[in-house]
Amino acid sequence: MKIFLDTADIGEIRQAARWGVLDGVTTNPSLYAKVGGSYDDILREVCSITSGPVSAEVVADDVDGMLEEGRHFATLAPNIVVKVAMSENGLEAISRLAEEGIKTNCTLIFTSNQGLLAAKAGASLISPFVGRLDDINQDGMIVIRELAEIFAIHEIESEVLAASIRNPLHMTQAALAGAHVATLPFKILQQMVHHPLTDKGIVQFKKDWQKARESAAAKA
Ligand code: G3P
Repeated sequence: MKIFLDTADIGEIRQAARWGVLDGVTTNPSLYAKVGGSYDDILREVCSITSGPVSAEVVADDVDGMLEEGRHFATLAPNIVVKVAMSENGLEAISRLAEEGIKTNCTLIFTSNQGLLAAKAGASLISPFVGRLDDINQDGMIVIRELAEIFAIHEIESEVLAASIRNPLHMTQAALAGAHVATLPFKILQQMVHHPLTDKGIVQFKKDWQKARESAAAKA
């Protein structure tokens, strides 16, 4: 299972890359708004840190506008994936970009039917938003499980990317539900690293090691 970081923060991306666990990055206008600056420059820098897919989201509503933005993003680096929101125009843009050999990530997916259509149109990544479904009292993980199963049954090559991951449990559940990828905020990646007993155990091992060294030195 691949792990993407859901951020436009270069420091966070570098850190995850240093840990050897980073398979790609997803950005969106809200994440970009948190860091500001030039979106193009950020995307170029992210693509220099990871060779995995880096999603850059279009904001136009019309097909021509989506195509123009998507084609531009695709010139920035070979690993750019153009993120397009689910809509009638979005499907057309995905289909046209696929014909041009430009990879896409269909975002704002909330049902398996939407995911199936996005895959049919040619999106290589399909992004159901787990947390936002949970927010409205629907089990977001059901869409992940259904799409993973549908793609397996019908040998569809698109990958299910669990997005809007809000806690470490979501991550485990997405992995068990068959998500090919999950994209997570850096904070959740950090939470996955730690456990109170691990951190306590490290402190205890260090204390015991020092005690043993001191008693060895005293005997020498
Ligand atoms: O990848 C999509 C993700 O950024 C949305 O997350 O927490 O805003 O629903 P959230």
